[in-house]
Amino acid sequence: MATLFDASFNASDSPLSADQLVAALEGHEVLVSSITDRIDADLLGRLPAGVRLIAQFGNGVDNIDVEAAYRAGLTVTNTPSVLTEDTADMAVMLMLALPRRLVEGAGVLLGDEAWPGWAPTWMLGRRLRGKSLGIVGLGRIGTAVAARARAFGLSIHYFARDRRPPALEEMLEATWWPDLDAMLGAVDIVSLHTPHTRDTYHILSGERLARMRKDAYVVNVSRPELIDEKALVAEIRSGHLSGAALDVVEHRHGINPDLLSLARENRVILTAHMASATLEARVEMGETVIVNIRTFMDGHQPPHRVLPDGRR
Ligand code: 8YV
Repeated sequence: MATLFDASFNASDSPLSADQLVAALEGHEVLVSSITDRIDADLLGRLPAGVRLIAQFGNGVDNIDVEAAYRAGLTVTNTPSVLTEDTADMAVMLMLALPRRLVEGAGVLLGDEAWPGWAPTWMLGRRLRGKSLGIVGLGRIGTAVAARARAFGLSIHYFARDRRPPALEEMLEATWWPDLDAMLGAVDIVSLHTPHTRDTYHILSGERLARMRKDAYVVNVSRPELIDEKALVAEIRSGHLSGAALDVVEHRHGINPDLLSLARENRVILTAHMASATLEARVEMGETVIVNIRTFMDGHQPPHRVLPDGRR
């Protein structure tokens, strides 16, 4: 970017405040944002008039009020595709790690107590093969997760507003559930691959978590807002659900201490929003941002334009 554009950088990893962002954008046409920048209607109303493009470094754009940006005549772009495979790897990694107690097992030899040695009932987990996986949102990432999960012997079920093409369903031997509640009662693992929007906020509500099969697991590499965390804690605590593996958790006001307790008890795995954190993905995300900016500046439709819900 420094080579191609007259660019200013926030060289620290701390996000700028709204005031700092507005000041920093003076004299600029493009804002390259990431998930840590809150681009709401208020900020959009204060942006210097020259700003025309918000090029998000990331797939999800729930930090941006896309509707307000659209109304203000601003173009928004994102970086899909390049982080699909890494994110899917992470989801499946968590799906394996949770029932097979990987995190707990990896700590045993490092602990203060001497390992007593193997025994027939030592570290019993649960087998993955033969179980059913319910994917919420069979888009790019959900599909990549399903393809991997097939290799581990999971049967694939999915909930999506619109049914996916027959060829894809056949390839994945996937069963479509138009009713999420019904799917939740029929699968052993639920993995979330839908973006955070007004419609998907707490899509796994307390009521829905209660509908899940006894001993089922929850995996989330999408956004924390998709799950009612308090209700999730309660369902695991009560012994209804076996556990959860979460790459994303609510942390604005600190991480829920009950969730941390469950993680310390090895009933939950918490990772720190790292599903797309590979060197390769970050480089390709940066390249995609550049392509979006360049095409936009050349007067063309950028390849990864994001429109408000319902607009095409
Ligand atoms: C990104 C993500 O690294 O792309 C996304 O939607 O959740 C992350 O993996 C982050 O959003 C960067 O803005």
